[in-house]
Amino acid sequence: MAAAVESSVETALVEPASTEVKTDTPLAESPMYYNFWYRAARTSDIRRGKMMATTMLETRVLVGRDRAGRAFAMKDACPHRGTPLSYGWFNGEQVQCVYHGWKFDVNSGQCQGIPSCAQGQDLHHERIFAPRLECEERDGYIWVYIPEPSGRLAKRALTPAGPAPVMPMHSEKYKSFQLTSHVETSGDHALTSLMDPSHGPFVHARWWWFARLLLLIRPDGGEKAVVRDMERDFTPLPNGFRETTTQPITEGWFRKQSGSDVATVAADYVMPYSRVAVIRAGKYWVTGFATVTPVTKSTSRIDVRLAWNIYLWFPFGAAILKYIFWVFFEQDRLVMKRQAEGLKSEPRLMAVDDADRQLRWFHEIKRAFFAAKKAGREFENPVKQPVKLRWRATDYRDILR
Ligand code: FES
Ligand SMILES: [Fe+2]
Repeated sequence: MAAAVESSVETALVEPASTEVKTDTPLAESPMYYNFWYRAARTSDIRRGKMMATTMLETRVLVGRDRAGRAFAMKDACPHRGTPLSYGWFNGEQVQCVYHGWKFDVNSGQCQGIPSCAQGQDLHHERIFAPRLECEERDGYIWVYIPEPSGRLAKRALTPAGPAPVMPMHSEKYKSFQLTSHVETSGDHALTSLMDPSHGPFVHARWWWFARLLLLIRPDGGEKAVVRDMERDFTPLPNGFRETTTQPITEGWFRKQSGSDVATVAADYVMPYSRVAVIRAGKYWVTGFATVTPVTKSTSRIDVRLAWNIYLWFPFGAAILKYIFWVFFEQDRLVMKRQAEGLKSEPRLMAVDDADRQLRWFHEIKRAFFAAKKAGREFENPVKQPVKLRWRATDYRDILR
């Protein structure tokens, strides 16, 4: 196993050309994935009769909830002269622009009055529409479909090809929490940090050791060695790829409780920016659904919802887990902020096999998607064959001191 790891690293070193990542640099020109669903806000962020502005893919979006509790979304720009409607007044059914007072129905987007029209000056205001966006509420988020920007304000929301993604849950009863992190890096870099197996020892490991103590897991259980070789199976999905592994459960008491000798892990990357990981051990399961939403070309938002059915009775279990994840998120946010400082001068980047192969696939998929779109043909996933990837997992004791 060690030899295999050595050889793949060596290959990367003797063929420096193959280690370069063909990103669509310069970053400013990297295309955005329009015509996909994105998480706009958490369900709990918007109460009945309230609205808020958010930016997604450089588009200002107004998201809200009408008097009846239905979520709505529209482009946050008044069709009169572009003033964000989010600055206006909202009565639970209509939003009124703060500049000249035009009123719009939030569900249809239809204009319902232009105050400056004198009697007899009927402009047929009912033919004017604020650009409504498709939105769906599920799994604790309001999802908004972000269409390709067009010069003209579209009358009707563009119809999505399918519904918003669903988070897989495997039992009726479960607990969950949501976390949001605003990162100062592009959607591409934020997503690849979620599929990056080699930053853990340097960014998180010291804390992970302590976190396992909090979770009542022996920190050094079965991991006395500083270096471990990892091996994972990868298979193509229609719009991405899946990582899988099966691990023996070493703790006898957990084997008994779960009713299984092994735990299986499956993590799916799916275009444009989602990663769903499911861990299953007998009757127990844990699901993490992470999405990245590009805000601008150089900033993004990561949203994660974690759900599980293990130890539902454990007091403050959700609060403890949420705190642990929050610390991890902060560590990732800081390292991405630092990375962004370096990326400003647009250095050439490298990907070292096998640890960076997922990053490489992400960029290959993105290139193939936009090439197919440009040529007007069907997207074909460039990841075609199942493959085993290997990398070395060190721990924090590998850090220079
Ligand atoms: S800009 Fe909105 S009413 Fe004039
Ligand atoms: Fe991380």
